[in-house]
Amino acid sequence: MAGITDSEFLNKVIPFGFDTATLGGYSLDTPTINASAKIIKRGRNEFHFPQNIIIDHIENEVNLIKEQHPNVKVSANVRSTTPQPIIEVSKIDNLDIVEINCHCRQEEILAIGCGQNMLKRDDLADYISDVVDNASCEVSVKIRANVDGVNTLKIAKIIENAGADYLHIDAMKPGVFDADYELLTEICRNTNIKIIGNNSIDSEQKIEKMLKTGVFGFSIARAVISGNLNFNIFNF
Ligand SMILES: Cc1cc2nc3c(=O)[nH]c(=O)nc-3n(C[C@H](O)[C@H](O)[C@H](O)COP(=O)(O)O)c2cc1C
Repeated sequence: MAGITDSEFLNKVIPFGFDTATLGGYSLDTPTINASAKIIKRGRNEFHFPQNIIIDHIENEVNLIKEQHPNVKVSANVRSTTPQPIIEVSKIDNLDIVEINCHCRQEEILAIGCGQNMLKRDDLADYISDVVDNASCEVSVKIRANVDGVNTLKIAKIIENAGADYLHIDAMKPGVFDADYELLTEICRNTNIKIIGNNSIDSEQKIEKMLKTGVFGFSIARAVISGNLNFNIFNF
């Protein structure tokens, strides 16, 4: 979660039983960094670092987590108009996963063809293949489901064929505070990539429903903000 999930936050919540922690999202290149500045100007929380220090910053954050939780995988969620800065992040020592953000829906990010508008780019497959072929760590792609004009299953297959290790799906279903379990089931049945299911998990019952879809794992965002999960994820 941009502006929230730094090493200090993640070190506090990892003990609830998480085996992977995601830093970011971070903007990496001039267009995305400028977009972040505009987002901050209108009052939204963002991580905002100049291009010349962003890699060192992420490296430091990764190490602050690894010092306390050496067995937890650390991922960095990143945005960039081109693959190269993402490949550079993947070279950070101790970083386990670089996650390409095809999810953000802030207007300033959409205007430069990033975030969920990555799903509409003609070069999506080439972009992901470029990162996968040159990365020094595992590659995840985070998408939002049910984006207007986008066939989520088709996108899942493109991402699988491009060679990503994980497909992290915010299975948002417009109008309800629950995940689109039917869509996740369909994607799990029709692909072999490791799917991380996400959206609105705030109870053991919802984790059970999520796991029944066939996902490899699940992620939780808003429910951890309190730092006080009222259920035990060690059970799963
Ligand atoms: C304040 C806030 C900031 C977020 N920032 C990011 C981000 O930078 N990158 C990203 O992939 N998802 C981001 N998300 C989306 C969450 O990671 C997650 O996909 C979404 O909130 C649904 O999951 P949840 O119901 O468990 O919260 C953000 C969510 C919130 C509430």
